Amino acid sequence: MQNLIEKMPKAELHLHIEGTLEPELMFDLAKRNGLSLPYDSVDDIRAAYDFQDLQSFLDVYYQGMAVLQTEQDFFDLTFHYLQRCADQNIVYVEMFFDPQAHLSRGIAFETVLKGIIRAMQQAKTDLQVESQLILSILRHLDEDDGLKALDLAIAYQDYIVGIGLDSSERNNPPEKFRSLYQKARQAGFRLVAHAGEEGDASYVRGAVEVLRVERIDHGNNALQDMKLVAKLREMQMPLTLCPLSNLKLKVVEKVSEHPLLKMMNLGLKVTVNSDDPAYFDGYLVENFTAVQEAFQLKPNQLIELAKNSFEASFLPQERKAHYL
Ligand code: HPA
Ligand code: ZN
Repeated sequence: MQNLIEKMPKAELHLHIEGTLEPELMFDLAKRNGLSLPYDSVDDIRAAYDFQDLQSFLDVYYQGMAVLQTEQDFFDLTFHYLQRCADQNIVYVEMFFDPQAHLSRGIAFETVLKGIIRAMQQAKTDLQVESQLILSILRHLDEDDGLKALDLAIAYQDYIVGIGLDSSERNNPPEKFRSLYQKARQAGFRLVAHAGEEGDASYVRGAVEVLRVERIDHGNNALQDMKLVAKLREMQMPLTLCPLSNLKLKVVEKVSEHPLLKMMNLGLKVTVNSDDPAYFDGYLVENFTAVQEAFQLKPNQLIELAKNSFEASFLPQERKAHYL
């Protein structure tokens, strides 16, 4: 079973590139940039990754990013992650990045984008790992701040496939970004949004009906509303589930309480993803292993999850067909 999980070609659709910053690289970059960290050692950092909820994680995640300063830093971050993909037979990935979290620290958009793109190009030729970028809007900031990021995405649209929505969910409902999503849709971006991780089912409904997304990131709390579930099934709306993230952020108490299997049995189109693997104790293989062990998934169910990851991707149809 482990062999199947490792060897089958997989796509990852819910991955924050800033969430792949391993403590070792955080130390290296801090040193290179002459910054001091509020930690004494790598072990010290790992011990601090004891989260109570989404916000307690986000506080540490935004603080960790402070070491990312130069184009080379963003290259190193991204290339390290894409090397992990090669090791785990992840052949295709759609990565989120959070430009507002860098702009607010005085890091230019071009610095971030150039470093990430150069790593993506090198990984494609050297590692045969393909990737596309989704610019994620920070929902705890106001829509005007997000619109500035969207304008940058439009200026660099050749390099960015989609627009997403992340950060603190509660009290920042999808409706807050109605105009931004309308503008993004008119510009031709593919649309996704985090919803139903800590927000209730109405956040998932709002993302689908008001933002008109093509994919929901997380979506756990959709199960509170069976009419919504019927609609998601009807639409075959993909949900990018993140089991170990949900465990670390106490969205679920145990992997066995994760809604993945229930959703599969309800006929929903679900995928397995790692979210912020450096912070949540596992990359994609470890997420697959956790749900396989918790639910005793059969080989055909593992293969279905991997196929879903390609089907739900923004690859052109003829490229998807290769993996289905
Ligand atoms: N949820 C919301 N925002 C995020 C996450 C997440 O899991 N990871 C990085 N930003
Ligand atoms: Zn996420």
